[in-house]
Amino acid sequence: MYRRTPGLFEGRPSRFARWIGPRIRKLGPGARILELGCGPGRDARYLADAGFRVHAVDHAAPAIARARAIAPAPSNLTFELAEARAALERRRSGSFDVVCAHALYMMLPDRELARLLAEVRRVLRPGGLHLFAVRASTDPRTLVSREVAPGVWRGGPHRTPFRYFRARTLDTLTRAGFVRVARHYERGARLWFVCDRRP
Ligand SMILES: C[S@@+](CC[C@H](N)C(=O)[O-])C[C@H]1O[C@@H](n2cnc3c(N)ncnc32)[C@H](O)[C@@H]1O
Repeated sequence: MYRRTPGLFEGRPSRFARWIGPRIRKLGPGARILELGCGPGRDARYLADAGFRVHAVDHAAPAIARARAIAPAPSNLTFELAEARAALERRRSGSFDVVCAHALYMMLPDRELARLLAEVRRVLRPGGLHLFAVRASTDPRTLVSREVAPGVWRGGPHRTPFRYFRARTLDTLTRAGFVRVARHYERGARLWFVCDRRP
């Protein structure tokens, strides 16, 4: 994907990153953020520029190479080439104030998503925030593909199974040990933005 499309996910921070800004500001500068599926790091840089300590992970080598090449990272920003769950498993329990993921969870099968969420919960300190963005089932791409299992589409633009979320499937993610703080439907992009808290 990155080799085919130079400049993919580069430039200005995502709308999701700008949505989470006010929600995490009260944690104060120096709060520890783990970003999963960071791509070339547009959101990680934005959060680091706001003073947070950011560790950003992606399993695509070209994305992490771009993240490291774009500009020298400040001392409060590190990038890691790693699969998300493997990266989580290497972290101590309660070692982050925030875990965030923009457009990552749609690609994971049920079992993998459940295991990943359990790890997210473990690395968050009590009271820590889990913020994520996922595609909504109102996305027009669902019209040209087929729902092969509840919430999972295949065909059309999707060579592999792909998730689109209804409000009730978002609740399933929250029930993996979190409490809902806020939910926003981003109409133009047909994305859900969610802020959950680890009790
Ligand atoms: C849609 S892109 C979004 C990139 C970035 N969050 C942004 O908005 O700029 C999803 C990213 O997740 C990464 N990814 C997918 N599955 C992953 C996994 N299991 N572990 C780590 N990264 C993963 C992909 O390489 C890709 O960079």
